[in-house]
Order: sequence, then C-alpha cells, then structure tokens
Amino acid sequence: MRIYIDQASGHVGEEVEIAGWLYNKRSSGKLRFLILRDGTGLMQATVSQADVSEEDWAVADELTQESSLIATGTITEDARAPGGYELHVKSLQLVGRSEDYPITPKEHGTEFLLDRRHLWVRSQKQHAILRVRAEVISAIRDYFDSRGYVLFDAPMFTPNAVEGTTTLFETEYFGARAYLTQSGQLYQEAGCMSLGKVYCFGPTFRAEKSKTRRHLTEFWMVEPEVAFMDLDGVMELAEDFTQEVVARVLDRRGEELKTLERNIAALERVKKPFPRITYDEAARILKEKGTDFTYGSDFGGADETVLAEQFDRPVMIHRWPAGIKAFYMKRDPDDPTRSLGVDMLAPEGYGEIIGGGQREDSLEELEKRIEEHNLPRKFFEWYLDLRRYGTVPHSGFGLGLERTVAWICGIRHIRETIPFPRMMYRLEP
Ligand code: 4AD
Ligand code: MG
Repeated sequence: MRIYIDQASGHVGEEVEIAGWLYNKRSSGKLRFLILRDGTGLMQATVSQADVSEEDWAVADELTQESSLIATGTITEDARAPGGYELHVKSLQLVGRSEDYPITPKEHGTEFLLDRRHLWVRSQKQHAILRVRAEVISAIRDYFDSRGYVLFDAPMFTPNAVEGTTTLFETEYFGARAYLTQSGQLYQEAGCMSLGKVYCFGPTFRAEKSKTRRHLTEFWMVEPEVAFMDLDGVMELAEDFTQEVVARVLDRRGEELKTLERNIAALERVKKPFPRITYDEAARILKEKGTDFTYGSDFGGADETVLAEQFDRPVMIHRWPAGIKAFYMKRDPDDPTRSLGVDMLAPEGYGEIIGGGQREDSLEELEKRIEEHNLPRKFFEWYLDLRRYGTVPHSGFGLGLERTVAWICGIRHIRETIPFPRMMYRLEP
C-alpha cells in the first residue's frame, strides 16, 4: 500500500510503499541510510545489503540528492530517526535521476537561491514558511466565511488608481489604457452596499521602485468592507481578526514555527485589546526617541520599527494628517485636518501590516477630494453613485499577506513568503 510519510504512525509493522525524493544520505559499511522526503515530512529508509537484491543495492548506493524513487519496506518506530519512524527497505525503484543538484546542504547566497526558486522551495525551511502561508490564507478565509461575510471578488484590470498614481502598472487594453489593481477596496465599497459585509482576497500590484525587505510588486491582500461600520468598529475588527489568525497558526503550525526557530512567546502575546494611539501621539514618541522624523509626514520603515518597539503586541495608529492619506478617507468631524484612517504595525520591526479606515460617505466631500487629487472624474462616476444612492457610513481595511507571514514566521525579508516573489529586479523564475 502506498502511504505518505505523515501517515507512518498508523502503519507500524506493516509493509508499505513510499514515493518521494532523496533528501540526504549516509553510508556505513553494508548499510545505506536514505532520508526521503515526500512533501509531508522526512523519513529515514534504511537499506541493508543483506535484505535487498544486488540491483536494488546498487540503486541505493548510487542514489543522488533529489533523485525520485519508490521505496517498499516495513515501518518501525524509532525515536532517533527524523519524524520518529523508519522504513526497513525491501526493494527500491529509481523513478527519475537527479544529476548535480545545485542546492547542497552548504550555505548559498540569496540571489543564487532566488534564481533557483523553483528548486529552493524543496528545502525544509521553505516548506515551513509555505505551510504557514497556506495556514494563514485558510485562517483568513475561515474568519470571514464563518462571520457572514460574502466573498466579493474584485477585478484585476482597472481604469484608475486607488492608492496613488506613482505605483501603477500600466498595460494596453484594446487601444485603451488599463492598470493592474493596487487594491480591491473601491469595489468592496460597492459590495458592502449590496451584501452588507464583504471581502476580497487576491493578488494586488504596485510598481514599487524601492528595494526594501517589505515590498513586493505583486502581493496578496485581504480586504473586508462593512456597511454601517465606523473607525472604532474597523479597529475592533482588525484586532480581533489579527488575534485569530495568529492563534490559528500557533495552534496548527507549531512544528513549522519550531523549524523556523520562531520565538513563540512573542506570538502568544498577540491578544486584544491592541494599543491604539493617534498619529500625534506616535509623532511625540518619535520625537522623544530622537529620530529624524518630520511632523506631518508618513512614517518611514525605521520610524515604524521604533514605534512598534514601544509595545509588546501590534499597535494601531489612527487619525492621520489628511494630506498624506488617500482621497477616499473620511475626515474627522472633530478635526477636519485629520482623516479617519488606521494603520496597524506588527511588533518586532515587521512594519505596517494593515491599512484601512472609515470612508468618505458624503457626495460633495468626495467630489471635492477627487478634484483636489487630480483624479480623472469620469472613472469615478460609478464610485460616486454609491454616495448618490443610499450612502451610509462604512469602513474596511487591507491586510498584506506576505508581511503578515514574514512576521508570524519571524523571517526578515518578505521575498521568502510567496512561492515566486516579484520585485523590481526579479521577474524570474
Ligand atoms: O495601506 P495600503 O496601501 O491600503 C490599501 O491599499 C487600502 N485600499 C486597503 C483597504 O482599506 N481596503 O495597503 C494595505 C496593506 C499594507 O498595510 C501592507 O501590509 C500591504 O498592504 N502592502 C504591501 N505588501 C507587500 N508589498 C507591497 N509593495 C505592499 N504595499 C502594501
Ligand atoms: Mg498603508
């Protein structure tokens, strides 16, 4: 019977077949210890010359890293073996030979590995990160699906910008101009006026010309949007959601976090309520700490790290100077120089993971903003319709998947959190 390595515990004493690749090999006299991987885990397959045919012994002897094979034998429990089980091999079948596999157990430079990303994803650390990513995605979907949110997919081709015109990817669209979407938000606003609570979750694109460890040109964002929700409501949603996603990974991906040597205690502190401070309070902290931040501007990566260091869990910063935030943000009725936006910064220097807030719901105000931002009015008529026909207060946010995964995994650069990262200098493989 063919089994996967992670099913071994249910087959002790039985003869089974395991199909996979050679991860590593040790030799000792008439024994060959093959470490197999099949995507579900690692297992030692012990080949004793006395137990196998001459042909199979030759296969075991010559087997090279990443050659694919099918091994048949009996499962035994062995506390010393990786995974706790061992296969005593009776026969071996080589499926596909691997010659001179380029990624060896020695250290390699990141560019070397990124050029071979299609092979790099076979390594144990990458398995752990990609499994955490998959868990975070499923936790995100479950969070919204189980709370009555309707998945409302946003288009990828758009005629206009959402998050400023400097990071647009332009493409030709049957003689017209189109852009790859920077955010599904505007479409979610239409969705929440129809279905009440909606979300979209997919790739978004930004022509980021900065080479930083927090920026990709193609990244995934989940964007909930809720009718009749205000800024306080969306901050509550953001913290409850973040707490739940982290708890889910702690609950189900402990092994992977161990592989990544993640400090679990730091993640266990991610419990609501999260601290909430205004932009002015944040600016005061930066001044006290002696950074060279200028009041009124956006926080840079270094500023975000200083701010996050003041707290033991994610922090939410709200009420931003209206001038540095997007056109769609509602102004604070108590101080029209402020917009009702909120950013959430992850702890430990991972930077902004969430951006969101309350949206401008007045037709007249929004018309003014579109003009002030020099946005092409004709592409926003549909968006203005949402204010013409039964406008209501509404709010939402966007969480960047890769930054969140980098933070949860405790890895410095977000390029390892997506199977095939896209950055300014990388379109391949
Ligand atoms: O703060 P941003 O730009 O907000 C929006 O796009 C809103 N329209 C979302 C909404 O309210 N529905 O982006 C949201 C998040 C950031 O906090 C960050 O986590 C991530 O998206 N992000 C990036 N992640 C990786 N690479 C980039 N270049 C990113 N730009 C933003
Ligand atoms: Mg932002």
